Amino acid sequence: MAIARIYNEGIEERIATFETRPRTPGEIQAWFDGTHPLVVVEEEGAVISFANTSSYSTRRCYSGVAEFSVYAAREARGRGAGTLAMKALMEAAEEAGLWKLVSRVFVENGPSRKLLLSLGFREIGIHEKHARLDGIWRDVVIVERLIEANL
Ligand SMILES: CC(C)(COP(=O)(O)OP(=O)(O)OC[C@H]1O[C@@H](n2cnc3c(N)ncnc32)[C@H](O)[C@@H]1OP(=O)(O)O)[C@@H](O)C(=O)NCCC(=O)NCCS
Repeated sequence: MAIARIYNEGIEERIATFETRPRTPGEIQAWFDGTHPLVVVEEEGAVISFANTSSYSTRRCYSGVAEFSVYAAREARGRGAGTLAMKALMEAAEEAGLWKLVSRVFVENGPSRKLLLSLGFREIGIHEKHARLDGIWRDVVIVERLIEANL
């Protein structure tokens, strides 16, 4: 499945996520849970980028807040696919009634930070030494964007 391949590229590069274990298509299938919006961008029939949401908290008061991530296939980066995926995800999130998208981005992840700032995300602050990746403590920037229509 294309989403698994693209996600695994990001895992391998060690710039996008603390995850280090490649995912199987079956594991990605579980993301299609009917609750959390997931969008893909296709080019000539092939998926080149995706953006997805996942649970932020089990607390009912936070039901309208979702975590998100965005990935573009290595060969397709820098041509707007990630931006397109995020725009589609924001629309899907609005339709799903969500009022906020949040994420954490490695401070070194320039492309991701630039993309998110260009789409109106705010950088809230930095979690210092939030977790270890390959044994090394890493800092992450907290980002968020309100979805005005659902406030
Ligand atoms: C982050 C990512 C999704 C961006 O997707 P993309 O399709 O390459 O991004 P776009 O082409 O839409 O570009 C978005 C902005 O980022 C900038 N950008 C893209 N690649 C860049 C790079 N390598 N260096 C600097 N800026 C870059 C673009 O210039 C663009 O800004 P602009 O509109 O002002 O020109 C992609 O680089 C990726 O998949 N990275 C690995 C996974 C990852 O880090 N995901 C984020 C974790 S939440």
